[in-house]
Amino acid sequence: MDLETTIAATRTYRRFNEKQNLTKEALHQLIDLARLAGSSRNCQAWQYMIITENDLCEDIFPYLGWAGYLQDWKGPASGERPAAYVLCLLNHDWLNVPEKLAYFDLGISSQNLLLGAIEKNIGGCRIGAFSPKLADLFNIPPHLTLELVIALGVPAEKVVIEKVDNNNTHYWRDENDIHRVPKRTLEDIIISLDRK
Ligand SMILES: Cc1cc2nc3c(=O)[nH]c(=O)nc-3n(C[C@H](O)[C@H](O)[C@H](O)COP(=O)(O)O)c2cc1C
Repeated sequence: MDLETTIAATRTYRRFNEKQNLTKEALHQLIDLARLAGSSRNCQAWQYMIITENDLCEDIFPYLGWAGYLQDWKGPASGERPAAYVLCLLNHDWLNVPEKLAYFDLGISSQNLLLGAIEKNIGGCRIGAFSPKLADLFNIPPHLTLELVIALGVPAEKVVIEKVDNNNTHYWRDENDIHRVPKRTLEDIIISLDRK
């Protein structure tokens, strides 16, 4: 795939073929891409925990919030749930920039991960809407905080991009169960300001 095709295909996927397990090795390769991301002051304050074990995946699932705009959908059904997770933890001992800047780093590193994933036919969903109780499943040392979950699996849904209409950016599912994600046009986002 060329870069533009890869970027366009790197959508958020929320329904997967749960039976298609992901290997730890594949996930190591993806985190190796996250590792190379740009980083404010190059502080690289993020650490990643890989979860592929079925029982642990089952334990994590109830704590996750899915697709807030799809009011009638409670998240992926059994059989279409993620096959793996990457937990993203902020290491406060490594943090030497304002936390806000470290979040930019996580955006970049998680996008590297998801771009690499799609080239392996793995789709993913970043999940910021998780219950704080999720952290209680693990012995997390005080210098680490759980900040983001990335759900991963072989996609079992079609996702297409469409134009934003009337400033409505809500994603939706059509009558054929295709997930539709509105994106603003280039004309909308490139602006030109008058000089003072
Ligand atoms: C930082 C971040 C947090 C997100 N949190 C959630 C979440 O909690 N639950 C969810 O279903 N999707 C979540 N998403 C996915 C967004 O809803 C998705 O990126 C958006 O709908 C655009 O779709 P696209 O990724 O295919 O462009 C998150 C995305 C980002 C970047």
